Amino acid sequence: MAKSVRVKSFELFPQDICEVDIQSLHALSLGVGWPHRPADWELFRRAGQGIVAVDGIGRVFGSAMWFPHGEDFATVGLVITTPRAQANGAGRWLMEQVLTRCDGRHLSLNSTRAAYPLYISLGFEVEATVFLHDGITLEIPTLPAADGVLSELSTDGIEELAAFDAPAFGTERGKLLSLLSEVAVTCVLKRNDVVVGYAMRRKFGSGHVIGPIVALNDADAVQLTAWHLKSLSGKQTRIDTREKGAFSDFLTTCRLNISETTTTMSKGRRFLNRAENKPWIYGLAGHALS
Ligand SMILES: CC(C)(COP(=O)(O)OP(=O)(O)OC[C@H]1O[C@@H](n2cnc3c(N)ncnc32)[C@H](O)[C@@H]1OP(=O)(O)O)[C@@H](O)C(=O)NCCC(=O)NCCS
Repeated sequence: MAKSVRVKSFELFPQDICEVDIQSLHALSLGVGWPHRPADWELFRRAGQGIVAVDGIGRVFGSAMWFPHGEDFATVGLVITTPRAQANGAGRWLMEQVLTRCDGRHLSLNSTRAAYPLYISLGFEVEATVFLHDGITLEIPTLPAADGVLSELSTDGIEELAAFDAPAFGTERGKLLSLLSEVAVTCVLKRNDVVVGYAMRRKFGSGHVIGPIVALNDADAVQLTAWHLKSLSGKQTRIDTREKGAFSDFLTTCRLNISETTTTMSKGRRFLNRAENKPWIYGLAGHALS
């Protein structure tokens, strides 16, 4: 008997991500150590578009998604190649498919270390570091009273919230916020009956994610986050933020420590444009959603 066997190389073809079994996508993310549940993939498939790389008998070897907002912008994410197929050109090929399908759109994504050289070579430029804070909060430090009224959003409030959010995100993303609100609990901060901040929390992976968190200043962002953390005591919680100052310190005080960093990159128009006294994204909706 031969001591080894040479396995034939195989060809991969693009297929719409909505046409494959959700379990094969779950297996793909598990394979690279990501926490996504099938329900998380379902949500992403409803929020955006994507392709998978399949072989001749329909096995999934890779994925890439994009989430269009408005006419000329999209975020990119869920770019995965299964480990046994990595370093063979599939990741680059998947991204080329995305770039062709997103032609004419400005793009942004949050890159892992593994994908960084690929995105640089495709013309993406570095904008910021994203800090993944996670852990289990048991106790929240005593905070001063909030400047305004914090309450849970009623189902018909998404339009006002989307209008508040648009200058922070740079593009109107009401459709995404509306979709997220179906599975999220949303807290709104109002002053004089006007929205001045909001934060959502939803189940993700084996715990919960708080995001988006959008506010005018650090103090409001802390109040919105604390509102959610009170309900998440003892539960695994994750917040992705680009903040370093008071907001980040608050998370660390709540035992949500930095476990990983990624890099926000863009291709085309600059994505992050902070302006004084304007809303700002303190917490990301998700790595793929920005
Ligand atoms: C990032 C990822 C998708 C890349 O997929 P891939 O199929 O290995 O990509 P490719 O083979 O097309 O390689 C793309 C580039 O990555 C780099 N690269 C790939 N394998 C490498 C290796 N073993 N060592 C060093 N660089 C490597 C090279 O710069 C390569 O460029 P080249 O085409 O000029 O050689 C894959 O590693 C992955 O799924 N990682 C885990 C999930 C992840 O981090 N996804 C990114 C989310 S933002």
